Amino acid sequence: MIYSTPPPGLERAPRASLVQLRSFEAVVRLGGVGRAARALHLAQPTVSTQIKELAAVLDLVLFEPQGRGLAPTAVGERLAMAVREMGVAWQGFEDDAAALQGLRRGRLRIAAVTTTEYFLPDLLGPFARQYPGIQIELAVENRDAVVARLERGDDELAAMMLPPSHLPLSRWPFLENPLVVIAPAAHPLARRRRLKLVELTGEPLLSREAGSGTRAAAEQAFAAQGIEWLPRMALGSNEAVKHAVRAGLGLAVLSRHTLAPDPATEGLAVLSVAGFPLRRQWHLVWRQDRTLSLPARTLLDDLRTRLQVRARPRA
Ligand code: PGA
Repeated sequence: MIYSTPPPGLERAPRASLVQLRSFEAVVRLGGVGRAARALHLAQPTVSTQIKELAAVLDLVLFEPQGRGLAPTAVGERLAMAVREMGVAWQGFEDDAAALQGLRRGRLRIAAVTTTEYFLPDLLGPFARQYPGIQIELAVENRDAVVARLERGDDELAAMMLPPSHLPLSRWPFLENPLVVIAPAAHPLARRRRLKLVELTGEPLLSREAGSGTRAAAEQAFAAQGIEWLPRMALGSNEAVKHAVRAGLGLAVLSRHTLAPDPATEGLAVLSVAGFPLRRQWHLVWRQDRTLSLPARTLLDDLRTRLQVRARPRA
């Protein structure tokens, strides 16, 4: 909210001090000057004086006799309520201030499977720009190495397609990961439609290294159709696989995200194979038995907001 004039109530500088107001509220709440003084660690005459001065500067009668003691007047009750509301507003400020401090400096460790390196830096961009004091460490490894990092608790968050079931993990599926079969652009199969997977078995297959989630997903898809997965060559990165396919060494299954929007510009073609693309998802996961830091929670909120906005259909 933007004020062009002071908010009502602050226009006239309040003549009551916060210390007086705090003592007054304690007297009303605890039902006596003595009890309020003890709770506030002040001498009883000090509290009495504060209350008298408060009544004088406000020009209000705050207490009236009741039985052998004193009770707040109606306006006294109303003042006590106003002081409590001020307390709540102040607490809100202190909470926000602590949160903002927590995001000024710090470190956020994230593990990510290799395929996410094609887009994860872009997704982290707005958060990184908003919180320049948070140092982000992004460890990019294959699926098995990311699982090992999760077991050790090296990172707060991990991005992966196949979260392990033996760890207590919360997961949020945040992006689709379509897996496609690729061939050199000039390959004869590139002109065919709706190839059967079994028709590919005459071709040499290239694969990511053991431990790769992409490889595991491809292996499962082949096994589901009773086809043995017998790669002729294993290569340790998505780019190495693409180069080898382009060089005519074989076909491969890779995430669509590893390819240019038009794969032909890279000398590659996405084959039309029944059952493909394999519709998989990437998840952000974190351990349920650890408490997420403020930077990690803030990043999750930030991604949730932005990815949901992006996913919203246009009107
Ligand atoms: P990876 O990635 O092949 O680099 O292990 C798999 C995944 O997307 O989880």
